[in-house]
Amino acid sequence: MAMLDTSPHSPAFAADKVVATAPDAATGYKGFRLGAFEFIRDEYFAKVHWPAKGQTRTHAIPADAFLRALMRDVAWGFFYGWVNFDQVFGTRNHYGKVDVYAGSFNGVMKAAGVDYTETFDTPTIMATFKAMLHDWTNAGFDPFAAPEETGSAYGRKHGENAAAIERSRIATRRMPGLPDDSPLRDDLPVNRAFADVPQDEPQVLPEPGYEGQLHAFNLFKYLSRSDVTWNPSVTSVCGASLFCPTTEEFILPVFHGNDRVEWFLQLSDEIVWDVADKDTGAPRARITMRAGDICAMPADIRHQGYSTKRSMLLVWENATPDLPARYESGELPPYPVAF
Ligand code: PHB
Ligand code: FE
Repeated sequence: MAMLDTSPHSPAFAADKVVATAPDAATGYKGFRLGAFEFIRDEYFAKVHWPAKGQTRTHAIPADAFLRALMRDVAWGFFYGWVNFDQVFGTRNHYGKVDVYAGSFNGVMKAAGVDYTETFDTPTIMATFKAMLHDWTNAGFDPFAAPEETGSAYGRKHGENAAAIERSRIATRRMPGLPDDSPLRDDLPVNRAFADVPQDEPQVLPEPGYEGQLHAFNLFKYLSRSDVTWNPSVTSVCGASLFCPTTEEFILPVFHGNDRVEWFLQLSDEIVWDVADKDTGAPRARITMRAGDICAMPADIRHQGYSTKRSMLLVWENATPDLPARYESGELPPYPVAF
């Protein structure tokens, strides 16, 4: 799949850097080591261990939640800024290197000094996270799917689901359906939640001489056939402006911490967003977005969304290089408009 030079989503991979244990005799799962972090999974939990204050600290995350977050972190190439798996554990993208942290962006743990951060070359963490995702995902569990559309993540190791994990995020060069660009995916069935979405394509009638230059497609039809949730795909590119629509059901598996402003346009139905302080996780706002609503997510927050009925969301990303440094230095205010 073609990837954009302007996007952080295509890091290299270093299979020889993966440090794994033999499968555990009782559970069948391998353990993984990344620097001073240790990762193990059992029937119900993923457990992360790290050193702090001369002791080993442990944090448990339900296996399904962990795998859903891990799937996004891997598929998005560590995304823009922070990917918090929960209130404790996560990654921060430095575009070439990635911080892995536990407690470092949790106000209480940070104050108690039990936090830990270590930085890795992107290929090393990518290879380790991919190996963990493969080993820990059982047959029948699809970390990209809505809970109602997949089996259980729990239990001792049974089989695998490489097909689900290897699905890559679509990154279009200009627009789906253009010659030599990504396909329109008419082969996928319409999702049960979008049975009422019209499936007709727009008629394109270019003036003579403009054939092949003017293009349009039915974005609602396209999204109605998405088989994944909470996975923005780059479907139009205009300079550094990326339109990344996505279909959302249940909970965004991460709290995304922004390193730039991003815009949300609610295309259908409803999403509730919890917004919190980026550094501490302290709650800041709750937003209900209904079809037609638009909002800017500031550069100094983290956010997580909830959608009961599968909905369509347009995430508008600004891939201008050096934005993170300009927000971090205070050159740019964390919000796009001052009222
Ligand atoms: C976001 O972090 O902005 C985000 C991520 C995934 C989605 C929607 C929004 O599906
Ligand atoms: Fe975000």
